[in-house]
Amino acid sequence: MTTSPREKNAPRDIDAPAIIAAKPDVTKANSKKVFIKTYGCQMNVYDSERMADVLAPIGYAPTDAPDHADLVILNTCHIREKAAEKVYSELGRIRKYKETNKPDMKVAVAGCVAQAEGAEIMSRAPVVDMVLGPQTYHKLPEMIAKVHRGTGQVLETEFDTLEKFDELPELRQPKGFSSFLTIQEGCDKFCTFCVVPYTRGAEVSRSVAHVVAEARQLAAHGVREITLIGQNVNAYNGIGEDGKEWTLGQLIRHVALIGGIDRIRFTTSHPRDMDDDLIETLGNEPKLMPYLHLPIQAGSNKVLHAMNRGHTYAEYKELIAKIRAARPDIALSGDFIVGFPGETETDFQQTMKCVEEIGYGSSFSFKYSVRPGTPGAGLPRQVPEDEKQDRLVRLQALLYQQQQDFNKSLIGRTLSVLVEGVGRKDDQLFGRSPYLQGTHFDGPKDLVGQIVDVKITDAGRNSLVGELAT
Ligand code: 5AD
Ligand code: SF4
Repeated sequence: MTTSPREKNAPRDIDAPAIIAAKPDVTKANSKKVFIKTYGCQMNVYDSERMADVLAPIGYAPTDAPDHADLVILNTCHIREKAAEKVYSELGRIRKYKETNKPDMKVAVAGCVAQAEGAEIMSRAPVVDMVLGPQTYHKLPEMIAKVHRGTGQVLETEFDTLEKFDELPELRQPKGFSSFLTIQEGCDKFCTFCVVPYTRGAEVSRSVAHVVAEARQLAAHGVREITLIGQNVNAYNGIGEDGKEWTLGQLIRHVALIGGIDRIRFTTSHPRDMDDDLIETLGNEPKLMPYLHLPIQAGSNKVLHAMNRGHTYAEYKELIAKIRAARPDIALSGDFIVGFPGETETDFQQTMKCVEEIGYGSSFSFKYSVRPGTPGAGLPRQVPEDEKQDRLVRLQALLYQQQQDFNKSLIGRTLSVLVEGVGRKDDQLFGRSPYLQGTHFDGPKDLVGQIVDVKITDAGRNSLVGELAT
């Protein structure tokens, strides 16, 4: 299975693994094959692509077939327990395959599970040759050389985000017309449920010059839409061309000047870092898509406080009103956690009220998952599993209804769609609306890569159907 361009910028179920077929060969002599399986967030999708860039010059070509791979990389996610456990099951399958079919296959575990449980992975899964954290994948060639020299298992979990970006090969060959671009990594917010500050480290922003150079390169390869990504993207404070720290709003306006880039998105934002400049940019920059992922996690002030989110529900609501005033056509998306320690039914009702009052076009919702080492793990009054499940079902019923209603409200409207590929039949096209819904319609395949107007004729919860507007 390949992650096709059509799937790439979809809001991802971050527990569902995706297999990223890395980019086409950049060297003709590539003789070895690498299979990269990506779990988790957009940042991991980006990292997997960059790992493929790092491996191309040393002769590795991407493959979608794990059975034929000389090197298998699992790019892992540690955000919830379920996500981390999947990695160990996959390693079990790989071990069996390697033992019976391909004893010389090399296996690497990358990403956040690697960062958090490096030594444990090596002892629990001896099949693993290399463990590398998210800040060290530029060292892959060196690690592979060590493994081939027979030095045993190799572990790299240093933290130096900017060094990684400096060391990455400049050449990027994007696969489709929409691409992620990492502008910021790490998080200083320390929400009490979250592992990210521990696995990805402190907030670091890339310089404006680096970001712009990469965006230009993407544009030169035909990319029309860029999603600027970061764990806490609106805390961006990279050094600008004047030597001063730039805000995300400034960066967006700058990227918008690049010819060929017609659509810009950014994710994931924190309510506390949503400054006036960014809100104004949302209102004034036509290349910014009218879609904002702005998680609140919970509606109760007591729970928000226990989560260390740093704001109240009333402050969030006020912020949303300001954003909607600046950009009336905006659709909101959010993340929600049910069953955080101490959350009562009354607290949960505040989350339901929040969803009813705010109204979300799309969303991600999760049961609280205890992450060892985070403050939440040690809190009293953990919520029983069946209550979490019950709350999640009720919350999702509401969120899914809102998503369906939002999509239905678009019937009859004409939306601009970036055509990302063909459907099952040649004359079926697939693309994304400004609101990120997958949109299906009939048209000639030479429209792939174009932005076209599509009149929406039907809508489900997850996608839209339309016809080319004349
Ligand atoms: N349990 C459940 N959900 C979590 N998230 C982060 N950590 C946890 C956890 N321990 C969710 C949050 C976050 C999204 C990426 O994952 O909603 O915004
Ligand atoms: Fe995790 Fe909170 Fe940082 Fe988001 S803002 S990455 S939830 S610590």
